[in-house]
This record gives sequence, C-alpha cells and structure tokens, in this order.
Amino acid sequence: MAKIAAEKPLSEAIKERRATPSFEDVPIHTADLEKIVRAGLDAPSGYNTQPWRFVVVRDREQKKKLRQAAFGQAKVEEASAVIVACGDPQGWKDGDLEEVLRISAEHGFNDPAAQDRIRKIVTGFLGGPAGKAAGVEPTFDLWANRQTMIAFTTMMWTAETLGYDTAAMEGFMEDQVKDVLKIPERVRVVALLCVGRLKGPDKPYAGRFEPARIVFADTWGESIEF
Ligand SMILES: Cc1cc2nc3c(=O)[nH]c(=O)nc-3n(C[C@H](O)[C@H](O)[C@H](O)COP(=O)(O)O)c2cc1C
Repeated sequence: MAKIAAEKPLSEAIKERRATPSFEDVPIHTADLEKIVRAGLDAPSGYNTQPWRFVVVRDREQKKKLRQAAFGQAKVEEASAVIVACGDPQGWKDGDLEEVLRISAEHGFNDPAAQDRIRKIVTGFLGGPAGKAAGVEPTFDLWANRQTMIAFTTMMWTAETLGYDTAAMEGFMEDQVKDVLKIPERVRVVALLCVGRLKGPDKPYAGRFEPARIVFADTWGESIEF
C-alpha cells in the first residue's frame, strides 16, 4: 500500500502539485480512494443536477487497455487508480432530476410546490433559451463538461492534500476509452485523473501568467491592483 503523508493544507498542495510524470507501482488505500471520490461528489453543480459519472479503474488489465486508449501514456498503467470523469448530458431528463428532488426532500427541501418550481426551472433552463445562451443546447455537452470538471478538480485537490500525486489527462481517444470501459454512447468522457505516488523526480514548475495579463478589474482589459 502507498505510504500516506500527513494531510496537508490546500495552499501547500496548490504550491507543490505538479503533473506527475511517473507513478510507483503501489495500490491506493481504499479508504483514501473513497475519501477522494466522495469529496468530488460533494462538488457543486448547476441546480445540484450532478450530471457526472466516474469510472474508477484499478484493475491491471483495464489500466493496460486504458493506456492504449490514451496514446500509450505510461502513467495510465502505472497509476494506482485512474478516475475517468464523464459527463452525462441527458441524465437530468433520464431520472437524475427526480432523484435530486427526492434527495433534497430527505434533507428538508420537501415542500411539493417548491419542488415543482425547481422541476420547472431546471427543465425550462436546460431545455429553453437560457440554456441555449449558456451553451447547453444543442448537445448539452459543454454544460455537462463544465459541471464535471468541478467534481474532477475537487477529487484532484483532495488526493493531493491526502499526500497522493496526481496527473490530469486529456490525451485520450474518447471512442476507445468508451469501448474499454463500456461507457454508454450518449455519455462524454471529460478527463482522466491518475492518482498514485510519484516515482523518480517530479516535473519542474513551468510558471504561470502574471495576473496583469489575464485578470481584469470591473471591465475586460482594465488593469487590476491587489
Ligand atoms: C485537463 C488537463 C489535461 C491534461 N492532459 C495531459 C495529458 O494527456 N498528458 C500529459 O502528459 N499531461 C497532461 N496534462 C498536464 C499539463 O500539461 C500540465 O498540467 C501543465 O503543463 C502544467 O504543469 P503542472 O501541472 O506540472 O504545473 C493535462 C493537464 C490538465 C489540467
């Protein structure tokens, strides 16, 4: 089992995280994996719709196949676990919305009129002009992607604060990933999160833009002072 470091503050994890170039061949503690995944599931989403699905890949054979679907990138096979984050653009129509309402009722949001209002708002937003403006129509893929990346990132930071190393990946052939993992047609593969323990030297920090280049005050293009 991977040896766990003490939990570190998020600020430290943000400073120290790198896109892990290579992983040790060690299994991940199931309890930690559960913590990582559950943290992601606690992420916010528009109207709490949670249009995401995750396939957690630990099986060696599956990781080997997944590596092939990811342009042969070795870290997919080396990582203790690969969390394959998916967006289900139609899930809200297909039972998710009713389940969201059922769960929220359990948590005290159980006024039928209020529930019906939410049902109408969500259906109206996602299926109507506001949804169109938000890039939801015609495919809902952008919308599902937007939400799923928040859960994905929450999992990444949770893994890092627990002392694991991570590598986010977009280098994969979606149809091949879907094939290997038997992911349904309508579901989109958003990103892969490799989790494990760094092997060898970490990647050096490549730096980031200064806020002056990319952060504006009140209006696009206006310099910001901190
Ligand atoms: C969504 C996403 C997808 C990425 N996909 C890949 C990938 O497929 N292969 C890879 O080697 N690195 C991948 N990276 C790593 C980036 O290249 C890396 O994060 C970036 O160069 C900054 O380096 P750092 O994370 O070490 O600070 C990805 C990162 C993100 C956030």
